[in-house]
Amino acid sequence: MSENRPSVTPTVMRLPQYTKANQEEILGDSGDPFGVASTGLTWLPKEEHFGIRHEDRLVAHAGLLRLPVAIGGAATEVVGVGGVAVAPSMQGHGLARLVVTAALEHARTMGPQHALLFCRPPLVSLYRRLGWHPLDNVVLVEQPEGRLVTMPLRTMVTPLRDDARWPSGPVRLFSLPM
Ligand SMILES: CC(C)(COP(=O)(O)OP(=O)(O)OC[C@H]1O[C@@H](n2cnc3c(N)ncnc32)[C@H](O)[C@@H]1OP(=O)(O)O)[C@@H](O)C(=O)NCCC(=O)NCCS
Repeated sequence: MSENRPSVTPTVMRLPQYTKANQEEILGDSGDPFGVASTGLTWLPKEEHFGIRHEDRLVAHAGLLRLPVAIGGAATEVVGVGGVAVAPSMQGHGLARLVVTAALEHARTMGPQHALLFCRPPLVSLYRRLGWHPLDNVVLVEQPEGRLVTMPLRTMVTPLRDDARWPSGPVRLFSLPM
């Protein structure tokens, strides 16, 4: 057990903003903290932010925003989840579970029936444990200059309502990925 493990269950807070400096506070300033630079993709910043502080330091974050999509040709919206990060010294103690769960509680109030995220293949099992399901469909996302590209990472979704069922068919984001 790490000596940095919080002794009481940490509280997730809504953050008024989330800057590059906040992200570096959590993950450090290495060039590719999410391990996705090789995709060459341009990403959207998130609009709503949830975080955990420990000893006056931000140690975990998850971000949300509403995104327009088409699923099987039908236009709708999803809540995009991104920027999920836990400080290296605090990883493995359930902080990602806590901060993602709190962000999803808020996502349930935002309107869309599903949340969606993109992750590297090694993280699929982690998000499965949090109740997410991988999609096998091709997912198209926008890039600068109107380019449409196939998302090379795994796409995972989770329902935000008890009766929500993910429709079949290809998925197309009408925005940059988040
Ligand atoms: C990915 C990351 C956010 C996980 O944070 P964490 O606080 O260590 O995760 P948690 O301890 O909350 O683990 C969540 C669950 O996944 C499980 N888990 C953790 N790592 C796992 C792995 N590699 N494979 C499968 N399950 C895993 C945990 O056991 C836990 O399940 P449980 O609650 O049922 O026991 C953290 O490693 C990180 O910040 N990485 C760098 C940034 C990044 O890649 N972010 C992901 C963007 S999609």
